[in-house]
Amino acid sequence: MNQRFVIVGTDTGVGKTVISAALVSALDAFYWKPVQAGLEGETDSQAVARLSGAPAHRILPEACRLRRAASPHLAARAEGVEIDAAALEPPACEGPLVIETAGGVMTPLNDHALTIDALKRWRLPIVLVAPMRLGAINHSLLTIEALQRRDLSLIGVVFVGDEDADVERSIATFGDVRRLGRLPWLDPLNAQTLRAAFDAGVDRAAFGANA
Ligand SMILES: Nc1ncnc2c1ncn2[C@@H]1O[C@H](COP(=O)(O)OP(=O)(O)OP(=O)(O)O)[C@@H](O)[C@H]1O
Ligand SMILES: [Mg+2]
Repeated sequence: MNQRFVIVGTDTGVGKTVISAALVSALDAFYWKPVQAGLEGETDSQAVARLSGAPAHRILPEACRLRRAASPHLAARAEGVEIDAAALEPPACEGPLVIETAGGVMTPLNDHALTIDALKRWRLPIVLVAPMRLGAINHSLLTIEALQRRDLSLIGVVFVGDEDADVERSIATFGDVRRLGRLPWLDPLNAQTLRAAFDAGVDRAAFGANA
């Protein structure tokens, strides 16, 4: 059975796409963004293609593409549609699969289902991405508690940003979770710098990758 992971974040804009791209590169994985809300500029699938260097066939089509950059349930409503959350099923593929959720785990998909409800149905191992910024401890612990309450399998946390060992330790200890590593802020950020920093900073063994 190929490995499949779900990348969740403490919030929107925390680095889920960047970590997904690094994992796609490191594991030669496929990538799937179930719901893309916001089509202006680069989509997450396009960013992952650019930052992983993966060939086009490894970027699987989104189940749902919505124009407005908003919570998926509101972006869908703006187009007069509703996301069929029960129909969101990870696609079959010939290799590992990295799934990137939209927003945070409590982000609604429609008026009845949250992102975490889909995670519960999928029962796949989860990786939490947490940014090194003020508020990260609180947001991380709230997310971890929500996952633990539902008996979801959290592999660990990947931090993004400047080193702060005290913050990382606080999250790992209070949350009783594994620290998988940290990706520093990169300038420039491209496929080469990302992969090198990911290999140096993140424990690939946690993902079953051949180092
Ligand atoms: N390590 C990093 N170095 C440089 N820039 C980064 C890094 N991590 C993230 N960024 C930038 O920060 C922004 C947000 O990151 P990203 O798109 O990965 O967040 P996200 O959690 O996927 O957001 P969304 O909820 O919209 O899917 C992007 O412009 C991205 O390029
Ligand atoms: Mg993203």
